[in-house]
Amino acid sequence: MSFISERVKQIKPSATLAITAKAKAMKASGIDIVSFGAGEPDFDTPDNIKEAAHNAIRSGFTKYTAVGGTDELKEAIAARMKEDCHVEYALNNIIASCGGKHSLYNIFQAIINPGDEVIIPSPYWVSYPDMVLLAGGKPVIVDCHEETGFKMQPHQLSSLITEKTKAIVINSPSNPTGAAYTEDDLKALAEIAVNNNLLVISDEIYNRISYNNFKVVSMASLGEEIRKLTLVVNGVSKTYSMTGWRIGYVAGDEEIVKAMNKIQAQSTSNPTSISQAAAIEALIGPQAPAEEMVSHFEKRKDYIVQELNAINGVTCFDPQGAFYAFPNVSSYFGKSHGGDEIKNSADMTRYLLEEAKVAVVPGGEFGAEGYIRLSYATSMENIEKGLKRIKEALASL
Ligand SMILES: Cc1ncc(COP(=O)(O)O)c(C=O)c1O
Repeated sequence: MSFISERVKQIKPSATLAITAKAKAMKASGIDIVSFGAGEPDFDTPDNIKEAAHNAIRSGFTKYTAVGGTDELKEAIAARMKEDCHVEYALNNIIASCGGKHSLYNIFQAIINPGDEVIIPSPYWVSYPDMVLLAGGKPVIVDCHEETGFKMQPHQLSSLITEKTKAIVINSPSNPTGAAYTEDDLKALAEIAVNNNLLVISDEIYNRISYNNFKVVSMASLGEEIRKLTLVVNGVSKTYSMTGWRIGYVAGDEEIVKAMNKIQAQSTSNPTSISQAAAIEALIGPQAPAEEMVSHFEKRKDYIVQELNAINGVTCFDPQGAFYAFPNVSSYFGKSHGGDEIKNSADMTRYLLEEAKVAVVPGGEFGAEGYIRLSYATSMENIEKGLKRIKEALASL
C-alpha cells in the first residue's frame, strides 16, 4: 500500500523543471546542449541588489521577520504597484511570499473549498491546474486559440461560469505564449467577473517585459469593483533576474491576504530576510538594469520569431511580452525518425533533445498540443546555434 496521499497522486511533476533537469544532466555528462527550457533570465542579478543583500547580512538582518514580509518591503511593493499598475494599496492588502509560485499556492489554499471551480485559459502556466487540484478545487480549462491571440474571449468565459465558479486566472503577458491582453480585452472580462462576483487571480509577473511599446495593463486598475475582486500576483524573479532569491507577492482583498498570512504562518513563515532586503532595492532602486534586460529580450524575440517562421512547416505567434516563443510544429506530427513516429509535442521534444541536442518544453504540458515552448532568456549565440539545429533536425524528418 502506498503511503502517498490521493491529493498528491493527482498532480504532475513540473514539466519545465523536469526538462531543464534532463538537459542539465546531459550537459554535465559532456553533451553540448542548447537549452531553451528555463523560464529564467540569463542575466546576473544587478549589483546594487546584491549589495543590498550583503548589507543586510553585515548588519545582522538575518532573523525571522513578520510572516508576510517587513513593512519596508510592503511599502516598496506598494510604491512599485502605484507606479506600474496605477493602483494604490495599503500595507494590509499586501503579502510577500517565497516566490510568485508560493503566492499563487497560498491564494488557492486560501480561497478554495472542495469542488470549487477555477477557470484557467489554456495555454496556461503549468502550475495553475495542479495548484487548484492540490487545494481540492476543479480546474476548468478554456481552450484559447492562436487565431484570437491566445486570449480568452468573453463569450468563452461566460459560457463556463457555474454556481461552483470561484475564480478565474488571467496571466498577461503569458507564459507560455507571450500573449498579452489589451485594456479593452481586460475590461470585457472584468465586467463578467464583477457581474458574477468572481475573484480574478491576475498573474502579472511579466508585466515589465513587453515589446513594441505594448501597454501592459493591470486588471486591478480598471475600477473599484474589479480591484476588490482582483488578487494581483507579481514578484522580483523575472523583472530583476532574481529567480533564486524567492520573493513574490500578492496585493488584494484584506481578508484573503489575512487568510494567506495564516497559511504562511503555519507553513513557511517569512520569506528570507536577506532576500526581502534585496527585493526592496530591486523594487525602488534604479530601474535601468531591468529595462536593459528587456531591450535584449526584444532583439532576441524579433530574431527567434522571424527565424522560426522561416522554417518550413512552422508558424510562430509574435508575442507582446514575457520571454517565450510558442511555435506550432504540428505539421511534423505523423513523420517518423528511425522507426519512431512523432505523434505529439512530447515526442517532438524528445526528438529535438536526442537528435538536435536542443531542450524545449512540449506544448501539451501547457494544455496546447501541437506547440513547443522556447525560452529566449538565453544568449543570442545560443539562440542562433539552437535554431540552426532545430531547422536541420526538422528538415531531416
Ligand atoms: C506565469 C508565471 N507565474 C508565476 C511564476 C513564478 O515565479 P517565481 O516563483 O519565481 O516568482 C512563473 C515562473 O516561471 C511564471 O512563469
